[in-house]
Amino acid sequence: SENIIILGIETSCDETAASVVKNGKEILSNVVASQIESHKRFGGVVPELASRHHVEQITIVIEEALKEADVTYEDIDAIAVTEGPGLVGALLVGVNAAKALAFAKQIPIVGVHHIAGHIYANRLITELKFPLLSLVVSGGHTELVYMKEHGSFEVIGETLDDAAGEAYDKVARTLQLPYPGGPHIDRLAHEGTAVIDLPRAWLEEGSYDFSFSGLKSAVINTLHNAEQRGEKISPEDLAASFQASVVDVLVEKTIRAVKEYKVKQVLLAGGVAANRGLRTALESAFSQIADVELVIPPLHLCTDNAAMIAAAGTILYQQGKLGAMDMNANPGLDI
Ligand code: KG4
Ligand code: ZN
Repeated sequence: SENIIILGIETSCDETAASVVKNGKEILSNVVASQIESHKRFGGVVPELASRHHVEQITIVIEEALKEADVTYEDIDAIAVTEGPGLVGALLVGVNAAKALAFAKQIPIVGVHHIAGHIYANRLITELKFPLLSLVVSGGHTELVYMKEHGSFEVIGETLDDAAGEAYDKVARTLQLPYPGGPHIDRLAHEGTAVIDLPRAWLEEGSYDFSFSGLKSAVINTLHNAEQRGEKISPEDLAASFQASVVDVLVEKTIRAVKEYKVKQVLLAGGVAANRGLRTALESAFSQIADVELVIPPLHLCTDNAAMIAAAGTILYQQGKLGAMDMNANPGLDI
């Protein structure tokens, strides 16, 4: 047929997800089974638990995605699956499900990099315009990725320690907020004022790398010092100050890269893209820059899902970059 129909599968962390996408752009179904409720009481994702949940959910989620899209395996041109990076036991469930289906139904398989998926979530809402820059901010990643064309990814900067989302989650834990902490800090930040002086890690001149562990430690120290002096610090102000520091660095480095690389489009990607402070700051910064389009996906496409994997997989399929039946989960996969 003329249309390319891809079944996407994503199990790299704590969402079991399957989706059917048409021509890399149109979502026919997007099913996500979240495990957050199970991991919450442990304050973070427990890898063993994640794998077991994926095993329980994967078949149900895939069947649901096909049913919702009103397609059968005969309509599927390829199965795109997250190959890495992520938790190895979690990734293995998706990779093995994809391989089993590919073998049984004689459908090609395509291995997708999780971050390429996050970036391609944007193609589900708009046409990509190259060259472009993507700011990928999630629980596991903080990267500035330059793309001169489809399927080409150049990481121009990345975190040297904690990912942005990880810093949010750790600060939230210090403030005794539930996991995942990002949305809670975001909410508190909007009720507070950024009056507490916290560091901003610019790193060496011209660097597009990030570092958030110093900021995280500064937040923890500020709390402990206040406690020792018997003072009470406003969690709202602390959250607002932390968020201001993260957002300042992310926005400033993105703007600088946009100018140096002369890109046409900036794509926000990953779970932290849900952050209201970041969205507002980027929108206001880009309203000052002519001829650069800022794209911010809706929240359900920012967090982990399989539609983004199908979208990225469509390009690989079109480029003939098919996977083999010896594909393995690769927790440290390079983009
Ligand atoms: O992309 P994602 O769903 O999973 C990974 O691939 O990591 O990102 C999850 C991360 C978590 O660290 C979560 O706290 C963070 O995204 N997050 C937020 C917000 N919503 C989710 N961080 C800041 N503000 C938010 N509103
Ligand atoms: Zn992710």
